[in-house]
Amino acid sequence: MAQEDVFKKLVAHCKEYGFVFQSSEIYDGLGAVYDYGQYGVELKNNIKKYWWDSMVLLHENVVGIDSAIFMHPTIWKASGHVDAFNDPLIDNKDSKKRYRADVLIEELMAKYDAKIDKEVEKAAKRFGDSFNEAMFRETNPRVLENLKKKEEIHQRFVKALNDSNLEELRQIIIDNEVVCPISGTKNWTDVRQFNLMFSTEMGSTADGAMKIFLRPETAQGIFVNFLNVQKTGRMKIPFGIAQIGKAFRNEIVARQFIFRMREFEQMEMQFFVAPGEELEWFEKWKQVRIKWHKALGMGDHKYRFHDHDKLAHYANAATDIEYEMPFGFKEVEGIHSRTDFDLSQHQQHSGKKLMYFDPEKNESYVPYVIETSIGVDRMFLSIMSGAYCEEEVKGKDGESDTRVVLKLPPVLAPVKLAVLPLVKKDGLPELARSIIDDLKFDFNCQYDEKDSIGKRYRRQDAIGTPFCITIDHQSTQDNTVTIRYRDTMEQERVKIGDLSGIISQKVSMKELFKKLS
Ligand code: GAP
Repeated sequence: MAQEDVFKKLVAHCKEYGFVFQSSEIYDGLGAVYDYGQYGVELKNNIKKYWWDSMVLLHENVVGIDSAIFMHPTIWKASGHVDAFNDPLIDNKDSKKRYRADVLIEELMAKYDAKIDKEVEKAAKRFGDSFNEAMFRETNPRVLENLKKKEEIHQRFVKALNDSNLEELRQIIIDNEVVCPISGTKNWTDVRQFNLMFSTEMGSTADGAMKIFLRPETAQGIFVNFLNVQKTGRMKIPFGIAQIGKAFRNEIVARQFIFRMREFEQMEMQFFVAPGEELEWFEKWKQVRIKWHKALGMGDHKYRFHDHDKLAHYANAATDIEYEMPFGFKEVEGIHSRTDFDLSQHQQHSGKKLMYFDPEKNESYVPYVIETSIGVDRMFLSIMSGAYCEEEVKGKDGESDTRVVLKLPPVLAPVKLAVLPLVKKDGLPELARSIIDDLKFDFNCQYDEKDSIGKRYRRQDAIGTPFCITIDHQSTQDNTVTIRYRDTMEQERVKIGDLSGIISQKVSMKELFKKLS
């Protein structure tokens, strides 16, 4: 199945099974804003717990906070967001559609990559086992030609970004004959900068209301609380402050479902270190974070680092962790070495000292910062796209059938087990309920007695429930049940008393955390 179709199916599945709904749907929706349904919120909460506990439980020098969304407007002046939190926009005059100029150019480069991959794929089929991919990539004229074209664009693009040269961005689009996917024309406007922050007013207009911003990142709430936490928690550098919370950006090109939203959630951690030690810590946090992703078992090859072409004005190193979504490798998390930029700026704009006295060095300094910043929603999307599977299975009558199954990491699955009495009589529902009563304090359980057992299994597969427990007549006699495993569909007869142990072994965060230590 084409990846585009997989993505469409995934979006439809998210809606049909109560994971994600379009916001304000009955009023025809609100662009790039989404609501999480009954299963979506469980998955999201599990992702957040995995992140939070891995930060604050596994690192004794990382603590959490929860700062307000509204903050003093000068914070955003100091951080540079008022002046520089912009996207370069370009409009197509015929379709009147608006695009991000940088995204159009990135997509253009991705097309050359796709052409190269296609050549490689064709050659691999032609040559079979004797195919030497590395040599092919180095010598094939068509591959080399496409690579050269991409490199030329890449070099111009990086220079244009670094020089903030909007005319050159437009020229790259014109020179490469990029067309609008809607109108099919090359009739482009100039490129303009557009600030992404939402603003609102605090206080009544009669009193002279203050213009304030909805935070576009949670990080600034951490920076302005740096000394509060350091002093009250008697924290010694190096130490980190973690936070999970909503952020808002007036994204112009909001596409790809929950990948780019106007209201989203971030999990950010700022790690404060001594000046000069930041690049060493940057490398350490890169390794910690990629391990966190890979421990979920979605496939190591699905992740890669992508170093930034253009460093933000405050950073001296930056990389993204990308995940292979159905629409290509995309950023899920950013790791940035933010120098002392933010604390210095807040020190300057607030007039309050934000320095740390280092007893070991016997000196005061403004700490340097390593940031790890991951979007909850993007993480959610990466997990869902990795988990979504359509499989051919043999039906009851031997006919082949398709099952849709979410192979979610069991630890993140919204429902951990479903308890299914084979029939609605003979004491089976009562036994099923008593099993749930026993397990519900530890696991999210579901009871289902409607329809055939096959249909009930399919329903649980579709929401990613790792275990189905079937109660039959034998269960009432010998206190055993069958446990059916989602991924293999294998079934096993086990004692009711063993259920808790079997399930917790597979769904406990503790087991996952052991992989991180
Ligand atoms: N404090 C640094 C910061 O905000 P960022 O790269 O702009 O850096 C960090 O954002 C992460 O937040 C991204 O890697 C992504 O996962 C998530 N994110 C950013 N913009 C988003 C959007 N419009 N919709 C969903 N997630 C977004």
